[in-house]
Amino acid sequence: MTTPAPATAPPLRIGAACTGWIGGWALHGPVTAGARATVTFVASRDRDRARRHAEANSVPAYGSWPELLMCSDVDAVYLATPNSDHLTKARQAVLAGKHVLCEKPLSCDASAVEELLALAARRGVLVQEAYHYRDHPAVARVLAALRAGAIGRVRRITVDYGWLLDRPCDVRLRPELDGGAFLDVGCYGVDLLHSLVPGTWSVLDVQAVRGPTGVDLESRARLALRSPHPVRAEVRAALRAPATVCEAHIEGTEGAVRLLSPFAPVPPPGAGTAGLGFRAEWEHSAGAPIEPVPIRAATSYHHQLDAFAARVASRAPAETAALVSRARVLAEVRNRMEKNR
Ligand SMILES: NC(=O)c1ccc[n+]([C@@H]2O[C@H](COP(=O)([O-])OP(=O)(O)OC[C@H]3O[C@@H](n4cnc5c(N)ncnc54)[C@H](OP(=O)(O)O)[C@@H]3O)[C@@H](O)[C@H]2O)c1
Repeated sequence: MTTPAPATAPPLRIGAACTGWIGGWALHGPVTAGARATVTFVASRDRDRARRHAEANSVPAYGSWPELLMCSDVDAVYLATPNSDHLTKARQAVLAGKHVLCEKPLSCDASAVEELLALAARRGVLVQEAYHYRDHPAVARVLAALRAGAIGRVRRITVDYGWLLDRPCDVRLRPELDGGAFLDVGCYGVDLLHSLVPGTWSVLDVQAVRGPTGVDLESRARLALRSPHPVRAEVRAALRAPATVCEAHIEGTEGAVRLLSPFAPVPPPGAGTAGLGFRAEWEHSAGAPIEPVPIRAATSYHHQLDAFAARVASRAPAETAALVSRARVLAEVRNRMEKNR
């Protein structure tokens, strides 16, 4: 869903609620590298941390979240706080008239997401969930080819995303902050299903292995889309994979493809076996071969920022149906995990 940026649009002014690791990779790095955005405010629960983060990244203003919302130099917010905090902050930002780029997952509450998007539409602001990989041109070309029938009709999708989390105090290990493997990396698989075959996905069954804090350290969900043609899927997520695994296998009526590192097209340093970046290995395909787009230095986060700024400038609509459906699927996966306890 990349939208060309109007060449005349000024850089989008972003207020950042992110003093954690991902802020550097997803926001400050791309801005420094020339993305069409600038960071005008950093918010933290701790004023001193906000100041240090602002100074380290040459951001002119800092303060609390309420101060960020009142700042007239902020057009949009980037939310990279724990998962449980996303929906509340996104709603507050929309009420303050700010566009929202929210880290995944936005929420597991589909009706709240629906209300948020309706509110955003009334206020004339965009809410986008940060599935950055889709904005990378190499991934976007392959997804578009698959949607156009490169392997015929998609029949089966298997997604594996796992890494080794070795920080005992990480937010992902805290159930009250909506931690766990499925919400951390399984959500990418759920996004890929919706991207390839939009519609109403149902959860068939879920298995999870929990850690001492109660969050799932490994989980798998089997899903199905019944109409118009049946599609089956399995999404596997892990926070205790011995080495990073990031791949998807997609089978169609006329071929198949293996996507390597689809969710980290230009991977961060130390990304293990996913460190080679995105590749598509076509097992066979219908029609002409799909020319790969070379992986260059600009990261998927850089492309995401450019695309987000372009969507804001062109007043592109939110991808409402997919946002709501992803939230519904994630909620169902969590409910099944609870029932299986
Ligand atoms: N797109 C990607 O590739 C990617 C990669 C990593 C993470 N993420 C997403 O980014 C989000 C943050 O992950 P992270 O690894 O960056 O986490 P993190 O390093 O722990 O940072 C989270 C930030 O949120 C704030 N925070 C911490 N606990 C909070 C709480 N209880 N309530 C409100 N704010 C709190 C902290 O800022 P202050 O203490 O300064 O307020 C902290 O800097 C998650 O949603 C995750 O899924 C995405």
